[in-house]
Amino acid sequence: MPRTLIVTGMLVVLGACSNENDQEPNPAPTSSALTYYGDALPVFEQHCLQCHQAGGIGPFRLDRYADAENHAGAIFDQTQARAMPPWAATSDGSCQNFSHSLALPDEARATLAQWVKDGAAEGTPRSVALPSQPSLAGATEFPTPVFSPVAQGGELAQFDEYRCFLMDPGVDDVRYITGYDVEPGTPSVIHHVLVNIVDPAAESDEPGVTNAEVMTALHAQSPDREGWPCFGMAGDGVKVESVPVVWAPGQGVVEYPGESGVPVVPGRKLVVQVHYNLADNPGPITDQSVVRLRLATTVPNVGVMVLEDQLLNTLFEDTPHALAPGMASVTYSWQTHVSDYFGNIADVKLYGVMPHMHQRGHKFRMDVGPSADPACGMDVQSWDFHWQHMYFYTQPLAMTPDSQINVTCDFDTSAETAPVLPGWGTRNEMCLAAMYFTVPAADFSQ
Ligand code: HEC
Repeated sequence: MPRTLIVTGMLVVLGACSNENDQEPNPAPTSSALTYYGDALPVFEQHCLQCHQAGGIGPFRLDRYADAENHAGAIFDQTQARAMPPWAATSDGSCQNFSHSLALPDEARATLAQWVKDGAAEGTPRSVALPSQPSLAGATEFPTPVFSPVAQGGELAQFDEYRCFLMDPGVDDVRYITGYDVEPGTPSVIHHVLVNIVDPAAESDEPGVTNAEVMTALHAQSPDREGWPCFGMAGDGVKVESVPVVWAPGQGVVEYPGESGVPVVPGRKLVVQVHYNLADNPGPITDQSVVRLRLATTVPNVGVMVLEDQLLNTLFEDTPHALAPGMASVTYSWQTHVSDYFGNIADVKLYGVMPHMHQRGHKFRMDVGPSADPACGMDVQSWDFHWQHMYFYTQPLAMTPDSQINVTCDFDTSAETAPVLPGWGTRNEMCLAAMYFTVPAADFSQ
């Protein structure tokens, strides 16, 4: 979470302001003061408890008054700064609306602020409604290996391990992923899960070397442990075909929009990246999580996940584009045309996007549509690498043959003394948009 956003002291100032309206210097809670059970808990039940409950990923519980009261100041700061709930996409209506949004509505934010300002009173106890965690029916299960994550240390993985596991989707004909779900084995350590589709026989990002060879070499770095280290996506140099699963706690079941599915062609492999976060769990931990994929034999529309990163692409040029060091803001922009991917297919829709940068990423902006009148497709004001999401629009954006896509990534390199090169590693940067388009199945050929 971006600590710089935490506005400590604000609580005191606002508390003082609200007191100015009162006649008494130390007003006792009045009957109009907001309470935990009456006002704050309904907000927690709807927006927070899926993570902040016993065994959840959140560092403390919000389903018990004493814990919530203890953290009242942090609750105020984090919700005012829009750092909690974790949801990076600007969701105030200025840049699309998103399905399954975790963004806190203004009214709920104001209720929490008022509850804290009123003195975080308890109110009349009642039972707490813990959110149900529905799972995806009729799905194929892909369990990750029983794994004991170990914090890798260093500046960027002080409490973290990013590990990739190879799995066989086991399809002997084309199947379409139409929905997914992840059941974390040890929820308190599972920070995110990505599933990459990789063609082992295809050339990797290293010319003349296959993906299979790169993955074997990565595994050989720590042969006594399952999988291999991977920070960016499927591991340094592995060329990813699509990222059909982007899961973070609190997200629940995802069903692809627009009656669509992402094809899995026989021979492809799943590379499941798990981000284990051990900050609140220093002791020895074992995890086995389950990825569920719902696979259909036919779909009306094919989901096409386009991964575009022209900053990364410069790595293969004679002079890769390096980000200047020592700057609070360094931007990189790129542009493509929808026709580059889909030719003249008329009925192409954009349903969502996953922005992806590494630790120096700060802001992300995507505009999409006809050059004369582009629409905002994604706006991130405060990127947090630890929270990866695929953001789906409630309404798809219809693409026309002249639609273009403009992306600008803004990086903070103030801590660097040397130029930052693009790449997949912890030390490098990316400016990637994973875009989820649909095309009618009739127009689609493998
Ligand atoms: C998707 C899971 C999730 C949801 C939903 C969520 N949180 Fe959190 N919260 C976390 C995690 C995990 C952390 C620990 C920091 C991190 O990993 O970013 C955290 C940290 C916090 C902290 C900071 C603790 C500290 O002092 O550093 C506060 C306060 C907080 N959450 C309040 C809330 C409130 C209030 C809501 C609902 C309005 C909420 N959270 C919703 C997962 C969640």
